[in-house]
Amino acid sequence: MASDVTIQSIPSTSRRSPEERARLLENPGFGQIFTDHMVTARYSPADGWHDAQLSAYAPLTLDPATSVLHYGQAIFEGLKAYAQPDGGVALFRPDQNAARFQRSARRLAMTEVPEQLFLESIRVLVEADRDWVPQRTGEALYLRPLEIATDAFLGVRPSQDYLYLLLASPAANYFPGGVRPVSVWLSTEYVRAAPGGTGEAKCAGNYAASLVAQAAAAEQGCDQVVWLDAIQHKYVEEMGGMNLYFVLADGRLLTPALTGTLLPGVTRDSILTLGRDLGLDVVEGHMTTEEWEAGCADGSISEVFACGTAAVITPVGEVKYARGAFTVADGQPGAVTMKVRESLLGIQQGTAPDPHGWMRRIG
Ligand SMILES: Cc1ncc(COP(=O)(O)O)c(C=O)c1O
Repeated sequence: MASDVTIQSIPSTSRRSPEERARLLENPGFGQIFTDHMVTARYSPADGWHDAQLSAYAPLTLDPATSVLHYGQAIFEGLKAYAQPDGGVALFRPDQNAARFQRSARRLAMTEVPEQLFLESIRVLVEADRDWVPQRTGEALYLRPLEIATDAFLGVRPSQDYLYLLLASPAANYFPGGVRPVSVWLSTEYVRAAPGGTGEAKCAGNYAASLVAQAAAAEQGCDQVVWLDAIQHKYVEEMGGMNLYFVLADGRLLTPALTGTLLPGVTRDSILTLGRDLGLDVVEGHMTTEEWEAGCADGSISEVFACGTAAVITPVGEVKYARGAFTVADGQPGAVTMKVRESLLGIQQGTAPDPHGWMRRIG
């Protein structure tokens, strides 16, 4: 087995000034601004993972035949570093992202990034760009690990060489305007993932294929698309970049089961535990679109929320589909949704105890 990969540090000679950084952090938005550094590492069968370095954030140079540009062997992750009340910085369950990154790699026939390299790259980048960690409540430093196939070869086969990259981007709320219920479009025209496909993997192609459906949702005046199962277009699966939870009036908290076509979200998994901590009967099950509409009509579904790293927990207010529309309860954020949100954010922001040992301090 490969031994631990050491990351060489080549600090940027063109860091932004404290004034420029403060100006950018004033209104970071989501995924628009990047810190002064990035981490890169290369893989080849002969050398294993090597040339790992922290260096200035800069464009890449790629041969036009680079296989990722043609056949899409590209996977990524998303996690956040949170400012802590004592001035430190902590990550939320980064081991889970490392493990999912490896599962995604296996599904795309790519070489896995060792957990040690993944976690160490995050540590060195956050340490180098610590001043970019936003301090305001609700904001965080979003970390984007990715891996791409780099063989310059047009044959259709798994690449032998790979590039691992880690970027960091200060982030405000994914949905501007704080906790605002989102409207969703039930997509029956397009599917995100079919049995045996890549739905469980966080691969670039899944997102490319989703964009036309997201555009269809926007045309209907909706914020997000809700994906249904590929066979019957009946079972609710997940959203564009978030998993879903249904709060039932009988005290259950239901999330669609991981059937192989959903992305196993770290936030989803955490809420399975947090919900139980809050005394809810958390179940992984099934919800059809008819049950969703009927449940909202008869009051047996009292709240629906979406969850993910970027969006945290966002209430779903309005649902539209080809032949109709309905509202979840009164369309406003529900009490259970807000309770789960507060308890998750409390752990992440270090203002509440961390009974499950989820936070990893990195300084
Ligand atoms: C399709 C999809 N579903 C769900 C999620 C939520 O996953 P997590 O909670 O790990 O951010 C994401 C975001 O990564 C996603 O892209």
